[in-house]
Amino acid sequence: MKVTVFGIGYVGLVQAAVMAEVGHDVVCIDVDQNKVDKLKQGHIPIFEPGLTPLVKSNYEAGRVDFTTDAARGVEHGEVIFIAVGTPPDEDGSADLKYVLAVAKTIATHMTKHKIVINKSTVPVGTADRVKAKIDETLTQLGKTATFDVVSNPEFLKEGAAVNDCMRPDRIILGTDSAKAEKKLRELYSPFNRNHDKIIVMDIRSAELTKYAANCMLATKISFMNEMANLAELLGADIENVRKGIGSDPRIGYQFIYPGCGYGGSCFPKDVQALARSAQSVGYTAKVLEAVEAVNYAQKEKLFEYILRHFNGDVAGKTVALWGLSFKPNTDDMREASSRVLMEKLWAAGAKVKAFDPEAMEETQRIYGSRPELSLMGTKEAALEGADFLVICTEWQAFRAPDFDLIKSKLSLPLIFDGRNLFEPKLMLEYGLHYYAIGRGLSV
Ligand code: UGA
Repeated sequence: MKVTVFGIGYVGLVQAAVMAEVGHDVVCIDVDQNKVDKLKQGHIPIFEPGLTPLVKSNYEAGRVDFTTDAARGVEHGEVIFIAVGTPPDEDGSADLKYVLAVAKTIATHMTKHKIVINKSTVPVGTADRVKAKIDETLTQLGKTATFDVVSNPEFLKEGAAVNDCMRPDRIILGTDSAKAEKKLRELYSPFNRNHDKIIVMDIRSAELTKYAANCMLATKISFMNEMANLAELLGADIENVRKGIGSDPRIGYQFIYPGCGYGGSCFPKDVQALARSAQSVGYTAKVLEAVEAVNYAQKEKLFEYILRHFNGDVAGKTVALWGLSFKPNTDDMREASSRVLMEKLWAAGAKVKAFDPEAMEETQRIYGSRPELSLMGTKEAALEGADFLVICTEWQAFRAPDFDLIKSKLSLPLIFDGRNLFEPKLMLEYGLHYYAIGRGLSV
């Protein structure tokens, strides 16, 4: 099937690559000529396991192409995905300017029936606005053409995006058109084997499903972080509590890991956007507002522990920091807890020696060269000359370090762990002073 994808960001690129892989004929459009040129040369702008070979092989096989030529893109696709960004505007609402600009472009160039699919995370009611924008543009241009708008939200996780797209656990289709449903069932049939994963519903419910899923997961995390803070004060160990409640299948083990807060391009933005949507219809989403507030505070937790340990004075200290990305297996630093920590440490007069397996370039891009930040080539090098260690991201490579080496390199035998990677008892045996989240302040 001929498919066009507008927006070569995370969602658009992965979606395009997996559709090409199963044999669809895909054209990707982006306004960024530099990005398009680089993709054609095999440079993938993001780190995502498995994505580079997938994009390269499908580009070489001619199943996916990249261009800035919007007219060609609109002409090409029977189905056209809108996968452009929806950044938060000042009040946290999703900004739809890019989505609506694509709608206008589609209307400008379309000459026959198109199925327009909203893949971007967009507030409830956006499909109606896309429809209205296409209609308005067609009228302005004196054109007549038919089209359908479908909501088909994406549920991929960074770091597992290719697999999530290849083997989705559900495919949500929000549509009021039997014709569009039939076409999309055909488009997704290679990903819909064994049992039917397609759930068809009205458009607004599909739009809300995306937010509800992310907000539910963010709620689980903030709830656990609140329990961790309580455990801390009540003398309990949150890791025992986690195991104890996760064993109940109604609760489950997933997304109940306490830590130094959730980050990324989705949870923080989507929780805020849904809370703002609620406000706009006169409803106060108290749970969502609490989820956001708890997370905001949780990102400051490590710094609080550090300040308390040093009686409020960390000026002149050098901090080894392991983990910069917002989670493992990505170089994405958006809303990462490490950023809150580093910025607070710098403001308090401390220096940071940081290591991350993938996010070093991204950190350099964000912070540039500055005397209070040294980016080190290995996790061991980050310890060199540092006073204590802080862990912000649970990369596998941090899970079983050489504790004797850590102790010998640091000037103080001290670890602040924002992801609860180690057993407090073991740390005691190594003679390391260990702070974790919700496990007792001082072991
Ligand atoms: C999230 C959702 O999990 C995807 O289903 C969704 O499609 C995606 O947003 C999106 O809307 O595009 P992602 O942001 O890639 O995916 O990352 P997650 O794996 O969900 O992690 C988000 C944050 O929560 C990370 O900072 C992680 O460290 C934190 N987290 C996760 C916890 O603190 N505790 C947990 O138990 C799980």
